[in-house]
Amino acid sequence: TLPSQDELKRVAAHRAVELVESDMVLGLGTGSTAAHALDRIGELLRCGALRNIVGIPTSEWAAARAAAAGIPLTDLNSHPVIDLSIDGADEVDPALNLVKGRGGSLLREKMVEGASRRFVVIVDESKLVPRLGASGLAVPVEVIPFGWALTLRRLQSLFDGVPGFNLKLRTATINAKASSFGKIESEFEPFVTDNKNYIVDLFFENGILGDLNLISDEILRITGVVEHGMFLGLATSVIVARKDGVVAMDK
Ligand code: A5P
Repeated sequence: TLPSQDELKRVAAHRAVELVESDMVLGLGTGSTAAHALDRIGELLRCGALRNIVGIPTSEWAAARAAAAGIPLTDLNSHPVIDLSIDGADEVDPALNLVKGRGGSLLREKMVEGASRRFVVIVDESKLVPRLGASGLAVPVEVIPFGWALTLRRLQSLFDGVPGFNLKLRTATINAKASSFGKIESEFEPFVTDNKNYIVDLFFENGILGDLNLISDEILRITGVVEHGMFLGLATSVIVARKDGVVAMDK
């Protein structure tokens, strides 16, 4: 039988963990693929194959998962240079540019992974795209809550006239309950990041056309924008688990 998507994620994660050596400072990723890497590092610490590892989590979620796996934690202030970061991604393009942040942790991920000598991305083959945005998933932008609707309008005007462009404030369901007629009534409030910010999700039906670095600069120049989920030139390699085997793409 063919491997499931989760098995592919695990295969990619375990391959990346082969790069971990004792005494390293590690950047610890967020998401269902990174989870396999955290669990594996924990196993190798427990059996003594690895020792003296410290990890810098990219989210509160990663901190909890890593602690449960028995990985000692530290922070970016005490370790501004990281040997190796391992994390998943939502999309990977042929130049190894990424979209990240479906889990909302893009800001800490970009800080940690940008401070890493090596940043190894682990994905199953479903994450490969010809162009960022092309899978129809969001390109997230973290914005401060103050004046978020104005920031959203400024983001909208940046992409005015781009066919198939759309954007919306990311929400979280806070209260789903069945009404007296059996209909599900839900209440929504803005999704809040670990940094207490909001997320505006950008959608590009045809993928992002044009110069990604220029688009990145234009987004970051908007006051109220904290960071976006395009990771340009940051990944040093991508490990892709495909049904017919593992492929590594290097920068
Ligand atoms: C978290 O904010 C994201 O950047 C994740 O790295 C990304 O969503 C990948 O998650 P999965 O491994 O669960 O697909």
